[in-house]
Amino acid sequence: TTYQVGYFVGSLSSTSINRTLSKALIRLAPEGLEFTEIPIRDLPLYSPDYDDAYPPEAIALKEAIGRSDAVLFVTPEYNRSIPGALKNAIDWASRPWGQNSFDHIPAAVIGASIGMIGTAVAQQSLRAVLSFVNARQMTAPEAYIHFTPEVFADDGEVLVESTAQFLGNYMEEFRTHVERVLTVIPRS
Ligand code: FNR
Repeated sequence: TTYQVGYFVGSLSSTSINRTLSKALIRLAPEGLEFTEIPIRDLPLYSPDYDDAYPPEAIALKEAIGRSDAVLFVTPEYNRSIPGALKNAIDWASRPWGQNSFDHIPAAVIGASIGMIGTAVAQQSLRAVLSFVNARQMTAPEAYIHFTPEVFADDGEVLVESTAQFLGNYMEEFRTHVERVLTVIPRS
């Protein structure tokens, strides 16, 4: 079976290290996972006033999640939480009330920072949000990536074997998690 993974990059930066990490994860992923980025950049700021008539960008967001068997969040830490752009996208997708796109979806979180904390606090914050929207999170393994150019090339090649193994194992575990969740809760 091949699973469709929609992935979110939480950064809008043109030099995002989290985008580089997403490239690395795709390179190291096992067979049976296909990746499509779900863009968040052009979403307006969410307001309930849109609930009766979502704009095209938000409809596209919800459709992209609907086509995905699972979602992967690759995000920086901003001020000990997730970037507003990513929170905004999650808010859009969780609404209108009763049409939460994340309900029961298999999900995983990962992130890279230039600091040693490796987005640990942001990931905890994101996990709280994903719990509320009822995503089925992979809780282990966790992955807090301290990004250095000695380890990650711009094209996502991982230059240190132990890191490549760690990230490859993370993606193997993610595939297993997706399979387990979908066995119990098929995507409708
Ligand atoms: C940061 N950065 C940061 N790093 C961290 O480890 N914890 C934090 O709370 C923050 N806070 C923060 C806020 C804002 C507004 C910015 C712009 C940056 C540093 C951050 O890890 C670094 O900029 C990364 O390069 C961000 O990831 P991307 O955008 O390169 O993927």
